[in-house]
Amino acid sequence: MGDSQAAEDFWLFGYGSLIWKPPPHFDERVPGYIDGYVRRFWQDHRGTPEAPGRVATLIDRAHWETLTDHHDAPGERVWGAAYHIPSSHAAEMREYLDIREINGYSIQYTPFHPAPTASNPKPNPIRCMVYIGLPENPQFTGPQDPQALAEHILRSKGPSGENKEYLYMLETALLGLSDESGDDHITDLVRRCREIEARAVESATAESDERIGSKLHRVGSTEEQEEVEK
Ligand code: BEZ
Repeated sequence: MGDSQAAEDFWLFGYGSLIWKPPPHFDERVPGYIDGYVRRFWQDHRGTPEAPGRVATLIDRAHWETLTDHHDAPGERVWGAAYHIPSSHAAEMREYLDIREINGYSIQYTPFHPAPTASNPKPNPIRCMVYIGLPENPQFTGPQDPQALAEHILRSKGPSGENKEYLYMLETALLGLSDESGDDHITDLVRRCREIEARAVESATAESDERIGSKLHRVGSTEEQEEVEK
């Protein structure tokens, strides 16, 4: 890429951690959506090589339609936040994004639709850079069984933290963007993870109750035995 291109300002679409963890240099953040893509938790990314965790990626809708997904067809819009990167930091930010997303995304440009506001009920679309997952990207996993995926997320943690925190933060961040920005795929994964966690707590509590019960029983039996022997 030539220096002149690298120095041009640009807009970047955040649909994963970028929604709540902005890039280091931006001068405007705008909530809104893009069309023609599907957000899925189908990218191997975080954690250690042994427990690599999953993060969100975008799949071109035409590509997604060729896949067998366990989740229903989502709505047309993928909600997120667009960041304006000024020309003063464009080159640095392109380098930062290359490093940050080294795990294999491809870049496309697409119109971003800012959420209407009272002062601007019909905002113009903005040309935006998006990172998407293609089958040839080594970290793109393709369709996953949602229950197995939820279990994988709960097992995964690494230098960037627990994988489940990324998932929970993503759901919260999405719900904060607008009244219609929830994502059924993400919400279903959150529900599955929370259910597995609640079951694990229940079974740990039952096990501990059982251990206390059997200890009390042993103490009780010894005391009874001593009474008999007196
Ligand atoms: C994100 O929104 O977190 C994201 C940004 C760039 C590439 C992939 C994901």
